[in-house]
Amino acid sequence: MDPAILHIHEEERRFPPPQAFKAKARIKSIAEYNSLYEESIRHPEQFWAKQAELLRWFKGWDSVFDWDREACRFTWFKAGKLNVSDNCLDRHLEAHPEKVAIIWQGEPEQEVRMLTYRQLHQEVCKFANVLKKKGFRKGDRVCVYLPMIPEAAIAMLACTRIGAIHSVVFAGFSSAALKDRIQDSQAEILVTADGSRRSGKDINLKEMADIAIKDCPSIKNVIVVQHVKNSAAMRKGRDSFWHEEMCGISDICEPEHMDAEDPLFILYTSGTTGKPKGALHTTGGYLVYVHLTFRDIFDYKDSDIFWCTADVGWITGHSYIVYGPLSNGATVLMFEGVPTYPDNDRFWHVIEKFKVTVFYTAPTAIRALMRFGDAPVKKHNLSSLRLLGTVGEPINPEAWMWYYSTIGNSKCPIVDTWWQTETGGILISPLPGAMTLKPGSVSRPFFGIRPVVYNEEGNLAKRDEGGYLAITHPWPGLMRTVWGNHERYIETYWEKYKGEYFTEDAARIDKDGDIWLMGRIDDVIKVSGHRIGTAEVESALVSHPSVAEAGVVGRPHQIKGQCLYAFVTLKHGIQGTDQLKQELIQHVSTTMGPIAKPDYIQFADGLPKTRSGKIMRRILKAIAEGAADVGNTTTLADPTVVDELLKHRIE
Ligand code: WT7
Repeated sequence: MDPAILHIHEEERRFPPPQAFKAKARIKSIAEYNSLYEESIRHPEQFWAKQAELLRWFKGWDSVFDWDREACRFTWFKAGKLNVSDNCLDRHLEAHPEKVAIIWQGEPEQEVRMLTYRQLHQEVCKFANVLKKKGFRKGDRVCVYLPMIPEAAIAMLACTRIGAIHSVVFAGFSSAALKDRIQDSQAEILVTADGSRRSGKDINLKEMADIAIKDCPSIKNVIVVQHVKNSAAMRKGRDSFWHEEMCGISDICEPEHMDAEDPLFILYTSGTTGKPKGALHTTGGYLVYVHLTFRDIFDYKDSDIFWCTADVGWITGHSYIVYGPLSNGATVLMFEGVPTYPDNDRFWHVIEKFKVTVFYTAPTAIRALMRFGDAPVKKHNLSSLRLLGTVGEPINPEAWMWYYSTIGNSKCPIVDTWWQTETGGILISPLPGAMTLKPGSVSRPFFGIRPVVYNEEGNLAKRDEGGYLAITHPWPGLMRTVWGNHERYIETYWEKYKGEYFTEDAARIDKDGDIWLMGRIDDVIKVSGHRIGTAEVESALVSHPSVAEAGVVGRPHQIKGQCLYAFVTLKHGIQGTDQLKQELIQHVSTTMGPIAKPDYIQFADGLPKTRSGKIMRRILKAIAEGAADVGNTTTLADPTVVDELLKHRIE
């Protein structure tokens, strides 16, 4: 991405909030937003202290915000004491114990579970006691590798109850990815399931977990949820079933009094190296931030049925399936399935069935469903919807318009929310009752957020000039460090603009002050909204015995947004056959997970490298994208490889 590039297409369409929506909204006008925003910037400590009062604290804080800029360390609500599960569960027991907290829709239509706040509280306390019985204490790491079932939320909340740190690994990842993450966090317990379901097929999760933990001596216990009932192999002394552990255990468990800055969870995310980064989020600041963003951006009402389609294994699931909604006492829908199984109207069917009011999904899903036209949508009554949201990657105006008119029936505002694993919660988004929408723009910063765009020279970009997006001041939800590697945290996020958080995204701010995201500027790409580090896929490819070297880049894709294009050099004497291509794709899938599968593999005798041996991905990217000009090749050790690559480029 060349941020100096000017945008070409000017989006002229405007969508003010419908009167009926505005009338009931929490924040009703741009003037109201402006005044709150200004207050949050002028007096951040006062502002955040007031918001923190929305939660229940065992003990107040000594200071709202402290910042050691040199060390890139900051704290929010220092010495304050609270417990996340207490705020998400106990606090609501008096007001509405019988309100449904989680509606779970399994992939099979007939499988539905409802958990009230009372029941969820009970399950969480019980599982917290299971962890305690196994010797788990504050600060210990628990790895959660579960499909989209209520046990995932229960396990996470149980960790927070006793102060253990959870590290949830997306169940779509395979054994190698799981192994790396367990090794890095040194988790001692793995909570997993016998299997997961995907479009009518069962996937043997336990088997994948077993392969991973062969190389993870830190793991002492494995607790297995019996979900698909596939008679998974259990190892005596190490493995036990969830339902057996939960049988006869007490449902009373006092919440641990946690310091606001105690670690809450680690969530691994892809970066520019092959090694995933463990983003560390802490207790008080994170919860205040997701609580408030959920309430105001989704304009929360007690009567809402909120459905976020993300997986709990991603930050979106952490913040807007579990912690944001539950800390507000909301009813959330958790869905195990996919949008197109058993049919392409599944999402719309589920919305109608449970009368979903707020629906939050990803542009890639919208694009995929848009292909089937309006007919699958029209089969269903979607009139319960009042608000729509998107997240994960830029949404193209065409998909935005379809979402707005066909799904929202032109009466639901869309909140296009920009944020990252690192940021904890949404940073830039419209407030739906206050802002006029422009398809493709993420609108304005949330309270307390100060975005700036720098041009190539490092100066503040002019209006409409593209550049690098940074945030100049820490907010409560920002990650505190990379687990076990504060140096990497500093290098990645704080060095480019000294003392400011660097997002690694390109953006522009238009003449009205609305923000437009222009994509990543690093070697991380978004495939169907999943963040994939190309270096991690390269190392998966190179781990195959036939591969000498690999260079992986992104190529635009109609539905996925981007897909992976891999250039692979084989070991001497090995033939690049179609069969080998399939084998390599399968290899990436089994080691990293199906989401990391390359769509294209091009065999090459050599890759473009600098004289110091660094692969120049810029050139590979230009080739994969079919650019007319691959740019400057004079710094290459051997410029002739480029012609060879161009000749065999896959259309
Ligand atoms: C990257 C973060 C945290 C939400 C899930 C993704 C891209 C995210 C948007 C949006 C344009 C977006 C950015 C960001 N991104 N939301 N609304 N418009 N781009 O979290 O996997 O950590 O990825 O997703 O490039 O840096 P993530």
